[in-house]
Amino acid sequence: MQAVVLSAHDRAPEVTTIDMPQPAAGEVRVRVRAASVNGFDLSVASGGLRGMMEHRFPVVLGKDFAGEIDAVGEGVEGYATGDRVFGVVTKDFLGDGSFAEYVTVPVAVGIAHLPETIAFQEGAGLGLAGTAAVNAIDAAEIAAGTSVLVVGATGGVGQQALQLAVRAGATVIATARTAEKIELVTRLGAAHTVDHTGDVAQQVLAIAPAGVAAVLHFAGAPLPLVPAIAPGGAFVSTMLRSADDVPAEGVRVVSIYAHPAPETLERVAGNQAERRTSVTVQRVYSLDQAADALGDFAAGTLGKLVIAID
Ligand SMILES: NC(=O)c1ccc[n+]([C@@H]2O[C@H](COP(=O)([O-])OP(=O)(O)OC[C@H]3O[C@@H](n4cnc5c(N)ncnc54)[C@H](OP(=O)(O)O)[C@@H]3O)[C@@H](O)[C@H]2O)c1
Repeated sequence: MQAVVLSAHDRAPEVTTIDMPQPAAGEVRVRVRAASVNGFDLSVASGGLRGMMEHRFPVVLGKDFAGEIDAVGEGVEGYATGDRVFGVVTKDFLGDGSFAEYVTVPVAVGIAHLPETIAFQEGAGLGLAGTAAVNAIDAAEIAAGTSVLVVGATGGVGQQALQLAVRAGATVIATARTAEKIELVTRLGAAHTVDHTGDVAQQVLAIAPAGVAAVLHFAGAPLPLVPAIAPGGAFVSTMLRSADDVPAEGVRVVSIYAHPAPETLERVAGNQAERRTSVTVQRVYSLDQAADALGDFAAGTLGKLVIAID
C-alpha cells in the first residue's frame, strides 16, 4: 500500500510502498478515505518524539482517519466489513498511522461508527480535535450564562470547543486576528473577539470586567491569560505538561490529554451529525502532497487540513 512514512530517525517523511498491515486480535483494518493533520504529526515528522515513544520503522504518520472497515480481527464485536468509521490511531508506539491506504486500529480505543450524514473528509477532521474539545469542555464545567474565553479559537480544537461552549450557554470571547478569522468565529457563535497579538487579558477584562469563568487554552503562552480569570474560575489547556505549569491561586487548572474513548468519539460524531458542531476543512491534499499539508499546518491554518486517499 501507499503510505507517508519515516523510514528511520532523521529522515524526512516520504510517500512509499509498504506492506499492508494485518489486524491483530481485537483490531479492525480500515481502508482510509481521508485523514487530517494534527500538531502531533508535526512532532513525529520532526523527530520530536524520539526517546519519548518507541518508533517501529517504517513509521507511518497520521492519527486522524475516516474510512471503511475492510478486515476484522479475531474477537472483534460490533464492527463488520463495510462499516463507516472514524477516529484516532491510539497505540503506545509509533508505527501504524493514518496517512496510508490502510490502517489497523484496536476497537477498544480510538474508533467509532461514522454516521452516513458525515462525509469522510469531515469525519477525518473530527477525531483528535473533537475529542480534545469534548474533554476540555467537560473539564471546564461551564454553567449557562457565564463568560468563557477560547484561546486558539480558529484552530481545529478551538472551533469545536467554541461551538460546544456556546451550546452550553456561555458567552464566548474568542481569539481571532484577521477579518476572515473574526468572521469565522463570529459565525460559530462567538459574542466577542480579541486579537491575540495584543494583550489578551486586558482586552477580555474590558469586555468582562469581573473576569471569565473559564479559559479554554489551545494556543500561545498560558501565564499572560491568568489575570483574565474570575476568582474560582477554571484554566483548561491541551498544551501543558502538567497543571503545575500554571501556578494561579484560586483558579482550577486542568491539563488535558485527549482520550478518544469510543463513547467520546460517539459524542463527537453525534454533535456533528446533529449540526451542533461543524468542521472547517481549509484544504484537501492528496497523499503525494502530504509534505505540503504538514508544512501548511505548521504555518497556521483556519481549521483542518485533510488528506484524501482515493
Ligand atoms: N493534549 C492533547 O491531547 C492535544 C490534543 C489535540 C491538540 N493538542 C494541542 O492543542 C493545540 C491546538 O490544537 P489545534 O489542532 O487546534 O491546532 P491548530 O489547528 O494549529 O490551531 C491553533 C490556532 O491557534 C491560533 N493561534 C496561534 N497562536 C495563537 C496565540 N498566541 N493566541 C491565540 N491563538 C493563536 C492559530 O491561528 P492564527 O495564528 O492564524 O491566529 C491557529 O488557528 C496544539 O498545541 C496541539 O498540539 C493537544
